[in-house]
Amino acid sequence: MGPRFALNFEAYAKKYLPKIAWDFFAAGADDCSTRDENILAYKRIRFRPRMLRDVSMMDIRTKLLGTEISFPVGIAPTGFHQLAWPDGEKSTARGTLLTYSTCTLEEISAAAPGSLRWFQLYIHRNRAVSQQLVQRAEALGFQGLVLTADLPYTGKRRDDVRNGFRLPPHMKLKNLEGAFEGDDRSEYGLPPNSLDPSVTWNDIYWLRSLTHLPIIIKGILTKEDAELAVRHGVQGIIVSNHGGRQLDGGPATIDALVEVVEAVQGRVEVYLDGGIRKGSDVLKALALGAKCVFIGRPALWGLAYKQGEEGLQEVLRILQDEFRLSMALAGKHFQNVELLLGIAAYVFQYLI
Ligand code: LAC
Repeated sequence: MGPRFALNFEAYAKKYLPKIAWDFFAAGADDCSTRDENILAYKRIRFRPRMLRDVSMMDIRTKLLGTEISFPVGIAPTGFHQLAWPDGEKSTARGTLLTYSTCTLEEISAAAPGSLRWFQLYIHRNRAVSQQLVQRAEALGFQGLVLTADLPYTGKRRDDVRNGFRLPPHMKLKNLEGAFEGDDRSEYGLPPNSLDPSVTWNDIYWLRSLTHLPIIIKGILTKEDAELAVRHGVQGIIVSNHGGRQLDGGPATIDALVEVVEAVQGRVEVYLDGGIRKGSDVLKALALGAKCVFIGRPALWGLAYKQGEEGLQEVLRILQDEFRLSMALAGKHFQNVELLLGIAAYVFQYLI
């Protein structure tokens, strides 16, 4: 019998992926305390379930910036999918695509016409490279631009340091091919220091001038930054700590979500990634105000398992079934998850 829980996929991936790839995907920064806290924090949140509320009909669709999706889980942008499966990001086309992708934008578009796709961007010192990527993504029909805000430099991930992690020579960051001179690719396949650590909030205006796409900012963890994001005109916020791979010692995303949602007051959509391992985690995030969650590592484990795409679909199906079941058991009797938002205090009790 195949895996029945997202965590079974993790065990599979750990067993079968080359150690260097497993270590790269699993890595957290420093002591990995934030990475681990992302998961532990869910266990401290308790439902306040209601009974006898006719849960025979359940509609779990929702909308992301106006586009309908079948249930509120998307694929987070994670790097280097070809490390997990040769088809790479072509199999993960439901979701966000990373600048650091091992397939081109064009390949992803062809593999998943019609699915909801956002393009994730890092801003390079060479701004022309970033500008060109943004415009290519828009021309290819990507529906949103995700600016990752938490990576001026890469966090210190001890296993990657120990392993001397480098992208294997046959894998390339295809979206960036030809963008840099020289062949020093020692930093995740790019020349060292190619990302721009001087990016500020003003660069949102620069991005705005390049594209009509909605801008979603990823990596926000405080009410102050949430307010700045809204004031700078973004359309969405992803509460994220980069899977605990950047600053170790920051909050779990589910804990940070609460203050971000409170600060935003419904002016833009708020999403979350980090630590989602089962359907009830999704429900907790939604009840606390997230419009949708994104899975990072579980999607990669799915890719590592059984013909890539198929394994990923299984992870999503399991999460969907578990989410539906949790909703029913918590007594959610509304027809659509959107109606769940804003009534968190009624359905749930948040305990720290
Ligand atoms: C990482 C970068 C590539 O977390 O997003 O490894």
